[in-house]
Amino acid sequence: MNVPFHQGIQGEIDAMEAKGTLKSFQHLQAPMSAHTRMEGRGEVLVMSSNNYLGLASEPEVVEAGKRALDEYGAGTASVRFICGTFTIHRELEEELARFFGTERALSYVACWNANTGLIPTISGPEDVLICDELNHASLIDGVRLASKTPRAIYRHADMDHLADLLEEHATARRKIVVTDGVFSMEGDLAPLDRLVELCEQHGAISLVDDSHGTGVVGPTGRGTAEHFGVQDRVDIYTSTLGKALGGAAGGFVASSAAVIGLLEQASRPQIFSNALPPTVSASSLQALRMLARDPGRVQELQRKVEVCRAMLRERGYDVNDHPSAIIPIMIGDTAKAIAASAALLAQGVFVTGFGFPVVPEGTARIRVQVSYAHTEDDFVRFMDALDAVLRG
Ligand SMILES: Cc1ncc(COP(=O)(O)O)c(C=O)c1O
Repeated sequence: MNVPFHQGIQGEIDAMEAKGTLKSFQHLQAPMSAHTRMEGRGEVLVMSSNNYLGLASEPEVVEAGKRALDEYGAGTASVRFICGTFTIHRELEEELARFFGTERALSYVACWNANTGLIPTISGPEDVLICDELNHASLIDGVRLASKTPRAIYRHADMDHLADLLEEHATARRKIVVTDGVFSMEGDLAPLDRLVELCEQHGAISLVDDSHGTGVVGPTGRGTAEHFGVQDRVDIYTSTLGKALGGAAGGFVASSAAVIGLLEQASRPQIFSNALPPTVSASSLQALRMLARDPGRVQELQRKVEVCRAMLRERGYDVNDHPSAIIPIMIGDTAKAIAASAALLAQGVFVTGFGFPVVPEGTARIRVQVSYAHTEDDFVRFMDALDAVLRG
């Protein structure tokens, strides 16, 4: 064992602890919902989960996973093109394509893999990747993996800057504009109406990761593009199954048959890594079917977000007005945000503080996320605890 190496690594962790930026990990003993049970603490109110539609513990979603385990076993023990793919994968992918209004969809074990598998596959040295500066880490890493493709970054949601960059790179073979739909730390939306218009004007391609928009934004939960009325004008969607759509894991790309066909052939996570487990595929499929059948759950979530926001405002908190379910409460200093989150947990409220390097230095925050599973009483309990911690 190389002792100095391991001591050096420990030193890096110790330095985080000394700065007050070390993250702690909580262990849950019950399903994720508005309330769960935390080891050593008992019942807690969860105010920062991506379980937007409350489907992670929904009996129909859980049952579908159990049935798939009986039907398909644990997995194929290999990658899809070597040992075949389960029919449940095809069913899920067909349903995803229907939901997004695209020709085809392809599942991955995570949206992280979808983004990092997609971007290097569809771009090369003759192209350019033009990215919002606040894109999610998985899009950033996807762009990094496309190491031979030139890249340009535009100021957050600044469509004039994007227009300038499209002009500047006019001669590139493919100009691929890469953006989150809902930005995960701010909760704001990419202006997709203007973005797709610019893409059309400049012969560019739009790539939207809507992980926080799927099931949350738009009249029927089809996401940010639906909100802006441009669903059929986006070239490529990516999103996760690990948030609103069941909450287990998994991600996907939805696009033309051509893009999906190439990903099947050449996307590295597809050809060198196992498929999504059938249990997870079946649970996600069930979640998707429930959502497609009855968008009432999305509308109720959207109503609850408005209630939560209005209640925070009544108590004097400065909160955003974005149509997502993410409401950041700005703290500033990373150590203070982490300390506030620990103090809230001591009061039985589980809400995570985010600081540098997840968000820029000086903009640490507590990220509140509203779920369909919350009640108004939950909001009151959360805000009483918040007042006590931040103002007590
Ligand atoms: C915008 C965005 N993209 C991708 C991901 C990664 O999703 P997954 O957990 O499916 O890898 C996240 C997760 O936080 C996200 O917020």
